[in-house]
Amino acid sequence: MLEKIQRKDVKITVVGMGYIGLPTSVMFAKAGFNVCGYDVNQDVINTLKSGKIHIKEPDLQQAFEEVMSTGKLVPVEKLGYSDVFIICVPTPFKENHEKRIADLSFVENASKSIAPFVAPGNLVILESTVPPMTTDEIVGSIIERESGLRVNEDFFLAYCPERVLPGRILYELTHNDRIIGSSSVRAREIAEALYESILVTGKVYTTDTHTAEMCKLVENSYRDVNIAFANELSVICDKIGVNVFELIELANKHPRVNILNPGAGVGGHCIAVDPWFIVEKFPEEANLIRTARETNDYKPHWVVKKAEEEIQKRFGGREKDITIGILGLSYKPNIDDLRESPSLEIALLLKEKGYKVVGCEPNVQRDEISNIKNVVLDEILKTADYLVLTLAHDEFKRNIGKIMQKEVLNVIGLY
Ligand SMILES: NC(=O)c1ccc[n+]([C@@H]2O[C@H](COP(=O)([O-])OP(=O)(O)OC[C@H]3O[C@@H](n4cnc5c(N)ncnc54)[C@H](O)[C@@H]3O)[C@@H](O)[C@H]2O)c1
Repeated sequence: MLEKIQRKDVKITVVGMGYIGLPTSVMFAKAGFNVCGYDVNQDVINTLKSGKIHIKEPDLQQAFEEVMSTGKLVPVEKLGYSDVFIICVPTPFKENHEKRIADLSFVENASKSIAPFVAPGNLVILESTVPPMTTDEIVGSIIERESGLRVNEDFFLAYCPERVLPGRILYELTHNDRIIGSSSVRAREIAEALYESILVTGKVYTTDTHTAEMCKLVENSYRDVNIAFANELSVICDKIGVNVFELIELANKHPRVNILNPGAGVGGHCIAVDPWFIVEKFPEEANLIRTARETNDYKPHWVVKKAEEEIQKRFGGREKDITIGILGLSYKPNIDDLRESPSLEIALLLKEKGYKVVGCEPNVQRDEISNIKNVVLDEILKTADYLVLTLAHDEFKRNIGKIMQKEVLNVIGLY
């Protein structure tokens, strides 16, 4: 297989044509491999076959058109034989969101569907973010059972997590370092050769499967724990009238201290989700990780409580007559992604409590977001009596002088 990879004489099937699978297919096709892009969603395949991509990502449409025109990428609605299978399917929480357990049904279905086509010598790679042990216990076991082949004897199995940032996916796919995990040295060598063929400056590091699975989860848990520390400080400081932003700036003058800034909470589909996959597997041991998640999940509730106290002080008696303006509804600065957004949660919680709430999310061109009226900055500055500044969007930074002339709960310390 190594010689075949060098000659690019290898057929790769990518299973799941979403934010990860589609750009990955494009990059392997661009590197000269013959790639089949498979998805269970017929609409996705139809859109791709018509020459259009269905996701928003800079430069992807053009790169997609290039590999479609050379015939190196072929979107398919049926699976077939292949040398390499790369699984990039979703791993959300199970429907009962409260329990925060990974729904691995997509990974299970993908493994079952490729099993009849896995042949001796093939390499199967899981890229989806998963709880530890999933690669061996779910993907490996299903393919062994359904195909009759032995893992890492007849076919090879590896885990290769994805670390890309939406908005920079094409760049990061070729410049980020990659971690490859497998219990087979041979599988690691083959996977390493494969990923090296698309990397520009990124390097490949190989390890065992469980370390690679944990690596992805630990990266996001590390960030979550650090953000939780800052968020906890913000709540403590408020109790004694200390400006947490000044405190952190001063503490960071220490040569070995680097505290992050607090915010409205933690959102998005990675940092707010992945740490739970560790907690799920290690409920007794993962105390710090769980507490960090809970601390960050609590922050929007604290912001609501704080806003209510401030409004009571300023508008006592007529709280429900005033309009509260939420500056920022997405989950981080300068993006339109609303998934798990703490800012949106703050807006919705205040609305649920009977306040009049409007939002200003300059990155989403819609008049309404989850039943919250979405207006431009000038309008919110005119109509809102009290503002909650939740995100450092560029537009808010440029207009911070105007914003600070109003009554503002400045959750992010922007000035
Ligand atoms: N999007 C990111 O920025 C990002 C970053 C790092 C890791 N991840 C992880 O990568 C994985 C994929 O995420 P995504 O954002 O690409 O998801 P996505 O929802 O954008 O795309 C997944 C695609 O898989 C398809 N699919 C579902 N079941 C299938 C099956 N059995 N066979 C074939 N196709 C199937 C869906 O129709 C969908 O088109 C997840 O585990 C996610 O946590 C995502």
